[in-house]
Amino acid sequence: MSLDTFERYPLLFGPSPIHPLDRLSDHLGGARIWAKREDCNSGLAFGGNKTRKLEYLVHDALSKGADTLVSIGGVQSNHTRQVAAVAAKAGLKAVLVQESWVDWPDPVNDKVGNILLSRIMGADVRLVRAGFGIGFKDSWHQALDDVRAAGGTPYPIPAGASDHPLGGLGFANWAYEVQRQERELGVFFDTIVVCSVTGSTQAGMIAGFAGQDRPRRVLGIDASAKLAETHAQVAEIARSTAELIGLGRELRDDEITVLEGWAGDRYGIPVPSTLDAIRLTGSLEGMIIDPVYEGKSMAGLLDLVQNGEIPKDSTVLYAHLGGQPALNAYSGVF
Ligand SMILES: Cc1ncc(COP(=O)(O)O)c(C=O)c1O
Repeated sequence: MSLDTFERYPLLFGPSPIHPLDRLSDHLGGARIWAKREDCNSGLAFGGNKTRKLEYLVHDALSKGADTLVSIGGVQSNHTRQVAAVAAKAGLKAVLVQESWVDWPDPVNDKVGNILLSRIMGADVRLVRAGFGIGFKDSWHQALDDVRAAGGTPYPIPAGASDHPLGGLGFANWAYEVQRQERELGVFFDTIVVCSVTGSTQAGMIAGFAGQDRPRRVLGIDASAKLAETHAQVAEIARSTAELIGLGRELRDDEITVLEGWAGDRYGIPVPSTLDAIRLTGSLEGMIIDPVYEGKSMAGLLDLVQNGEIPKDSTVLYAHLGGQPALNAYSGVF
């Protein structure tokens, strides 16, 4: 099988935009930084990385006769908000299990941002008390049973659409999209910086780039504060996706890089470097990033350029994976 043989339900505007971050690059005085914008990849509820993954899963759901997408995430999950949006777009129902993954004191945490948008889009939003974890949960099985008991046909989508056979395809496709855009722009990105939590975004990229001629680094920045788990999940999904799209060779360990140092102690809690990265990117570029994911990966990028780990002659592509609606639940820190 090759990537092209997998069908997609079209959800994106087309290739997501790539543009230079010149003022940020000048400020760093080192590598040239560009961004590829999954936050403006579609017209669906502010977009994001999951919308791209869901093109493959929604096609699968419809071909299996499902009528309800069932998924899980934290209260301010970007993923569940995107599931609500694509369900609306495809004429499906959505049941969303929203767990208390983040111990965040903001009084409007369960009312604004992502969860507000999911409610507007008509999803059945269920608040559940349970801690952070990217695995399968009882509450999620309960939601699936409830849909069946009501005569519906659920389609289960795990956290982040990651631990799913098709979960890596969206970003394997992204890797080829980047290659086409590089030809048009006359540029080559030797380094990709991407935030990793449930893993299939980075994993898909690794599998997709592995099939291309010119090697490059895909640097994952862990935002879960559980590096070993994140690394294991990225490795597993990268390898299964590589096999699925017929890479024809085993991925090497050195192709799978997930770095720690910017997540702080806990998933979902911004640390000073996160807030500095958000303010710097906002004030120099007018580009908004969030305190849970992209603020942490941008903090990583800034340090890696400043300490020379990413060399001065490098051309870097920062994968902006969306996530801004969650900012509304973090107003207190600003
Ligand atoms: C805005 C944003 N960035 C990064 C990620 C991490 O992507 P992944 O879960 O595929 O590792 C997510 C989702 O978890 C996200 O919503």
